[in-house]
Amino acid sequence: MTDPVNEILAPSRVSDRAGAQRVPVSGDVQAGSAAAPVVLQDAMPRHDVSVQGLTKNFGQTPIFADVSFRLLRGEAVALVGANGTGKSTLLRCLLGLIPASSGTVEVLGRRITDARSADLRVLRCRTGLVSQKHNLVPRLSVLSNVLHGLLGSHSGPRYWSQSFAPLPARRAAIDALEQVGLANLASRRADRLSGGQSQRVAIARALVAKPQLLIADEPCASLDPAAGEEVMALFFKLVRENGVTVVFTSHHVDHALDYGDRVIGLAGGKLALDATAASLTASDLRGLYD
Ligand SMILES: Nc1ncnc2c1ncn2[C@@H]1O[C@H](COP(=O)(O)OP(=O)(O)O)[C@@H](O)[C@H]1O
Ligand SMILES: [Mg+2]
Repeated sequence: MTDPVNEILAPSRVSDRAGAQRVPVSGDVQAGSAAAPVVLQDAMPRHDVSVQGLTKNFGQTPIFADVSFRLLRGEAVALVGANGTGKSTLLRCLLGLIPASSGTVEVLGRRITDARSADLRVLRCRTGLVSQKHNLVPRLSVLSNVLHGLLGSHSGPRYWSQSFAPLPARRAAIDALEQVGLANLASRRADRLSGGQSQRVAIARALVAKPQLLIADEPCASLDPAAGEEVMALFFKLVRENGVTVVFTSHHVDHALDYGDRVIGLAGGKLALDATAASLTASDLRGLYD
């Protein structure tokens, strides 16, 4: 019997048909540094996230105003609020995916509200997003999908498919899959996975570049309750082991209290709550979910 992991680490024995057709081999990326995190030159910030007076309007419609909070390195913060209060919008502002209307957001020591695109690129290498939609490429293998987590730090077609990726990158992707317990499925097509398996692959893809900050927007909302609980437990085990700072949302009141060090809440277009999880009960939070 061959070992499936070694087989994948050997040069291109398993190929993605879709990837093999469309990916040219080019020498435009350097092998050997696949999993190395990008190091910023700045002094270490005290807080990984500092949000000050953040206001977001869509056109004339105000979503939230004057939101301020800070996250220490390694902290996990649950963001709660009823549907439509602006949780996903706030998370997208944190990642610099949409502009703030006013106020400032500083992430990993860089102010992103007026960052140049080069700064945003550096930050994207050190941050990751896990969301309700797993957004895997269905026709590609599990391993290729995990490799896509390195595309932020290594642009180039070689990182699109396991067939062409440098060995260190394939190793990093296998390591990430081992962390989520799915190395044995590395060569399976992504569209042959269960919902829980695909979310674990999405988590491996988010972890492979060794981010310092992860944003998880309803990471288990598309899963059945049992698979959702497993995914939450696994996700938080891994982020705690890796010292990753996390901001997350979940529909389940218990998740905020079980997995967050702190809970912040949006209501009425404002930050209505910022408290330690230990100081709160489920009934304190229920009003914020209605
Ligand atoms: N790109 C957009 N353009 C206009 N309105 C938007 C956009 N994205 C979200 N919204 C609106 O902003 C509000 C907050 O949405 P969202 O952040 O998704 O809330 P939540 O994640 O708390 O459910 C909603 O009313 C939504 O319809
Ligand atoms: Mg949302």
